[in-house]
Amino acid sequence: MAKPKRKPLTTLDCRKTLIAPSILAADFANLGADVKAAEEGGADVIHVDVMDGHFVPNLSLGPGIVKAIRGYSSLPFDVHLMLSQPFRYIEPFADAGADHITIHVESEGAMACTLEQIRSCGCSTGLSLRPGTPAASLVPYLDLIDLILVMTVEPGFGGQAFMPEQVAKIAEIRSMIDRSGRHIHLEVDGGIARDTAVPVRKAGANMLVAGSSVFKEKGKLAEAISGLRSAQ
Ligand code: DX5
Ligand code: ZN
Repeated sequence: MAKPKRKPLTTLDCRKTLIAPSILAADFANLGADVKAAEEGGADVIHVDVMDGHFVPNLSLGPGIVKAIRGYSSLPFDVHLMLSQPFRYIEPFADAGADHITIHVESEGAMACTLEQIRSCGCSTGLSLRPGTPAASLVPYLDLIDLILVMTVEPGFGGQAFMPEQVAKIAEIRSMIDRSGRHIHLEVDGGIARDTAVPVRKAGANMLVAGSSVFKEKGKLAEAISGLRSAQ
């Protein structure tokens, strides 16, 4: 299917602070309106959390929902697959309107093949690490990815407390990216708010996923987003 014209994630500057509201914390009865409000509030990217009840102990949403909300925003959709077998769902999410797909390095399947599958569907690629997974596990795939997502909570639920012990790993990955000379976004996800945004930015993350801290501010999304962007 031909891709509609949207800015690919790879054209967003990886030295700038980018804000990616996670719709997991949005109002599921009004998802379209919340996605639109996030764009109007200054979001750079829409973060979509997909859970299979197996890789993580929770279920969230599928390609049908992504397709239903696609028309409410022209921002890139950053789809975070928390799935045991992500290779089974790349095409359905790409067809539904994903612009970027992140899979977990701990999931099943040959990583390089799944990343290639994502590219061949016209999406940019990301690899995510659970808190207990070392940075070194990314090394074989650095040439194949456009984004690294460091989980700062155990994946599965919104509204959890930020894990400060992940900050050292973020700094380690920042050096890894700089040494590679490649344009790779360093995204963090879990418990990100104005206060926790400070150490992750200092450690070198440039893309901040935020669910609760953005969507709990009903009617004040713009303040929440600009507060995150200016945290330092
Ligand atoms: C957790 C998800 C996160 C979650 C973040 O598994 O990957 O994207 O929505 O939510 P907050 O910002 O509330 O921690
Ligand atoms: Zn996420």
